[in-house]
Amino acid sequence: MLEAAGGSAALEAKTERPVEKKVFVKTYGCQMNVYDSQRMTDALAAEGYRPTESIEEADLVLLNTCHIREKAAEKVYSELGRIRQIKDERAKQGRETVIGVAGCVAQAEGREILRRAPAVDLVIGPQTYHRLPAVLRRARAGDKVVETDYAIEDKFEHLPAPARKAVRSRGVTAFLTVQEGCDKFCTFCVVPYTRGAEVSRPVSQIVAEAERLAEAGVREVTLLGQNVNAWHGEGPDGREWGLGRLLFRLAEIPGLDRLRYTTSHPRDMDDALIAAHRDLDKLMPYLHLPVQAGSDRILKAMNRRHTAADYLRLIERIRAARPDIAMSGDFIVGFPGETEEDFQDTMRIVRAVGYAQAFSFKYSPRPGTPGAEMEDQVPDAVKDDRLQRLQALLTEQSQAFAQSLVGRTIDVLLEKPGRHPGQLVGRSPWLQPVVADERAGTVGDIVRVRITHAGPNSLLSEPASGPAEMTKSLKGAHV
Ligand code: SAH
Ligand code: SF4
Ligand code: F3S
Repeated sequence: MLEAAGGSAALEAKTERPVEKKVFVKTYGCQMNVYDSQRMTDALAAEGYRPTESIEEADLVLLNTCHIREKAAEKVYSELGRIRQIKDERAKQGRETVIGVAGCVAQAEGREILRRAPAVDLVIGPQTYHRLPAVLRRARAGDKVVETDYAIEDKFEHLPAPARKAVRSRGVTAFLTVQEGCDKFCTFCVVPYTRGAEVSRPVSQIVAEAERLAEAGVREVTLLGQNVNAWHGEGPDGREWGLGRLLFRLAEIPGLDRLRYTTSHPRDMDDALIAAHRDLDKLMPYLHLPVQAGSDRILKAMNRRHTAADYLRLIERIRAARPDIAMSGDFIVGFPGETEEDFQDTMRIVRAVGYAQAFSFKYSPRPGTPGAEMEDQVPDAVKDDRLQRLQALLTEQSQAFAQSLVGRTIDVLLEKPGRHPGQLVGRSPWLQPVVADERAGTVGDIVRVRITHAGPNSLLSEPASGPAEMTKSLKGAHV
């Protein structure tokens, strides 16, 4: 009797599921980090870790960090201070907390992180995420682990494919990294050091992942790369493909109705990619094409390897192919040696292009980059003043672009419930958030709406029918 009871208890112990652990992931920086965080979450799910939104209940806290500007990197250390307190509190209750630092700060600073923040248990760079489960096991056994080699093996081959359930929970749009790293070495930028050399994922891997996403209900995929338009690979036809050809292949996947890509470098915008903007309806009319500055002298010092005139000519060709394309860009003010005249060249190029959206930053000297060593660093107050003037112009332009949509009929991909009952929020082809009436359709539908109002952050709409209209190009708008 006793024996029998003991036997069944042993059996129960064997079939009992391992205790579920929880992981809290916080992501900083660019979309590629968002994608990487998802892939790490998928890898950890296979180890029994479920995501949580509450840091206090997390057995593993993972910060996926960004090193692009000083502020971004320093934020990580203040966050680590806060997490250490939580770890101490949990320890008092006998609960273990593993703290991990991933991403570009991990790659750039490695062991230094353990010195500055001794509560950290593991540091893992972007090239080695497939080793995370093994690294985690070592950390839980009491080792402090720093894993920042440039792995020779293909991490994507070793990471579990995104699970259908996880993809569904993330919504109807998805990121898909196709290219990583950068060989361009702009003199202000850390990315070539943190992400390593340019590597393109093979066509078969990309197509298989895009098909899985589509099967799980994703309608829109954004291809990611630090230099996404430098992507190249051998196609199934044995020919060398560039991003344009890849987009045509992805457009054949049933259910995928919208394609985007980011971030592009002006030097890698080839004819085939411009032709894709002309011929491929599924490729959204939006292009993020950073120029950084408008002065040739500064562009040269930045090692961008193109002039302002090259950039303007390129945009003219792109707009000839796709007149309703919305341009987006990145700008840096206060690069070493930038004079007021150089800055005025930036203002001029912004006026000449007419941006629908843009990101602008004060130059931040980064350790190990040539820019940090340059003389003539610009005082912070001057940077502040230039940034303010540039942002005022860019805001005016994005508002003018949004305003140009009022009264027009456009297609919107509905992504999630809105803030108020009866509302859904989606995106326009030009990436603006659009508030729609739930009578227009449900999440995952691409619906036709008429824009009734342009607010500072989103467009309002009413259901509509009939053909979608193109936008008036902002070219030469000289706002
Ligand atoms: N690969 C992309 C951009 C990567 S970083 C490209 O080539 O355009 C994203 C943006 O951050 C850059 O476009 C740049 O505008 C900004 N940035 C990069 N390094 C910076 C620095 N040291 N200081 C300020 N802004 C920076
Ligand atoms: Fe950085 Fe320049 Fe490479 Fe872009 S192209 S990631 S800005 S080095
Ligand atoms: Fe930041 Fe690394 Fe992306 S430095 S912008 S997270 S590539």
